[in-house]
Amino acid sequence: MPKMFSMHTHTAGELTSANIGEEVKLSGWVARRRDHGGLIFVDLRDREGFTQCTFDPDHSGEAFKEAERIRPEWPILVSGKVRERPEGTVNPNMPTGEVEVLVSAIEVLNTSLTPPFAIEDGIDTSEETRLRYRYLDLRRPELYKALKLRNDFTHAMRNALEARGFLDVETPILTKSTPEGARDFIVPSRNAIGSFYALPQSPQLFKQLLMVAGVERYYQIARCFRDEDLRADRQPEFTQVDIEMSFVDQEDILNTMEDIFKEVFGKLGVEIQTPLRRMQYKAAMDTYGSDRPDTRFDLKLQDVSHIFKNSSFKVFSGALSNGGVVKVINAKGGGDLSRGEIDKLGSFAMEQGAKGMAWIQYTTVGEVKSAIKKFLTQDELDALQSELNVEPGDLLLFGADDRDLVNSVLGALRLHLVDVLGIKREGHDFLWVVNFPMFRYDEEEKRYTAEHHPFTLPLKEDLDKIESDPLSVGSYTYDFVMDGFEAGGGTLRIHESDLQLRVLERLGFTKERANESFGFLLEALKYGAPPHGGIALGLDRVCMLLNGSDSIRDVIAFPKTSSGADPMSGAPDEVSSRQLKELGLSIR
Ligand code: AMO
Ligand code: AMP
Repeated sequence: MPKMFSMHTHTAGELTSANIGEEVKLSGWVARRRDHGGLIFVDLRDREGFTQCTFDPDHSGEAFKEAERIRPEWPILVSGKVRERPEGTVNPNMPTGEVEVLVSAIEVLNTSLTPPFAIEDGIDTSEETRLRYRYLDLRRPELYKALKLRNDFTHAMRNALEARGFLDVETPILTKSTPEGARDFIVPSRNAIGSFYALPQSPQLFKQLLMVAGVERYYQIARCFRDEDLRADRQPEFTQVDIEMSFVDQEDILNTMEDIFKEVFGKLGVEIQTPLRRMQYKAAMDTYGSDRPDTRFDLKLQDVSHIFKNSSFKVFSGALSNGGVVKVINAKGGGDLSRGEIDKLGSFAMEQGAKGMAWIQYTTVGEVKSAIKKFLTQDELDALQSELNVEPGDLLLFGADDRDLVNSVLGALRLHLVDVLGIKREGHDFLWVVNFPMFRYDEEEKRYTAEHHPFTLPLKEDLDKIESDPLSVGSYTYDFVMDGFEAGGGTLRIHESDLQLRVLERLGFTKERANESFGFLLEALKYGAPPHGGIALGLDRVCMLLNGSDSIRDVIAFPKTSSGADPMSGAPDEVSSRQLKELGLSIR
């Protein structure tokens, strides 16, 4: 416990029977006040816990009168003696539940309006209201616990990185807008009217320049800004533990990170077995239909195309003759779902882009139900049964189409089944997904884009395919997957200017445009850039998962709503016409 200030001798969370008889001073908020025939009990709360303070007219004198007047959320200072609670009033659910403070004096430090919601855990107040009064929301123990967890994780991370020679370097927040990636937040310049800074989407280029500069091992707890559509695991500003190292290969980075994870997660009470699994991107997509699989439960996607090559069921054989696949999930435990529930699964699959969702159900009493049974031969049914180890109580869900579509539909269905079947996911799940494709074809923009980012090093053996067959080029990439979330991602970088230019050209840049946007990088790489690579952890996401929350807003002190607003301060807001004029801007 840190040294206490003048207004208290102890926190509200620490008194036990060992303190009985001591004179103490506590400062905090009135959490609850109960009037009990002559005695008044006040639960005093501070960030460390609660202590019962008892006001007795015979002992407390003037303080008793004050106690009649105080209300919830008033900050008070009480002095008194710690005593054992009377027989039968011990509260075993409270760390301080064996004792109480018999108050001799009280100082009311301030009053409070009646809070718009109860300052306690487990309330069902709307998030909008909680964010409007975030300073009260944060007074609730579960939110303080989240802030503390985040503090502890960040602190352990800093220690682990410093111990391994990483240097904390700050990089600019006012930077240059570069194409690629998400949409930038931009900031108008007053000195150069018509010019704009961009807020960094990540320190990516700066950390690479620090490697050119010889820093060798860099880290930063870095704020990043991306103007993209928000979700539960996305905020417009978020924090990365950003890391970069020189003279490394991919294994060096993964091993270093595993070592750090083991230490840091271990300090937070989460044991990690290293080395972590390394799953090829392609295997993740084929088996789980996701590049961030949650492997705490089974429900794998299985390819049964070979069974239906010559099937008379045209949905299957048609998909196959068009070059597609037939895949299935054996949703064990779904054998007794009602027809209505199965239809809902089908609708879910169709919302994900499927044309339909064929199914076969094996009820626990041994019936085989299916709308497509009549199209299938006994041989086909037997092959399914033996290859998928089908038992009574199983439910087969099929996808037949182009491979990527089937993977994404069944991947989403797999996660949806967790809720439908009430699958338990316990503990934490960590793995690497490695070797993502270098490029992806963007159908809307009709051009190739980088799967990770344009500074990623393509696999050495694929370099000669960058121009001729870009979609088959692999890359030195690794995502850190935790509990089915992308909790971090990194790559080895291109450290040769010529190769960097080739990749930018493949992404549709002319030499001129590449130089306009990334000239400073292309130039720096010509001055003896060392081989380098790194990773960025999504600090908010990791803390969300460690905290058992389902939104990163729970681990951010002052988050934005899903429309990017702050209901408390009113940001974003209009600015004065004078501010606009100085910047040479007008609003249309
Ligand atoms: P990337 O874009 O994958 O990589 O980001 C790294 C990690 O940051 C987290 N993250 C987010 N968290 C909250 N809200 C968001 N909007 C958001 N976007 C991303 C994710 C993600 O894994 N410069 C590269 C890293 C590198 O190559 O070293 C980068 O930014 O957990
Ligand atoms: P249909 O002959 O189109 O009525 O489809 C017969 C069954 O196959 C229905 O249960 C559909 O939901 C299902 N189905 C249709 N298209 C697909 C598909 N692409 N993948 C899986 N099942 C499908």
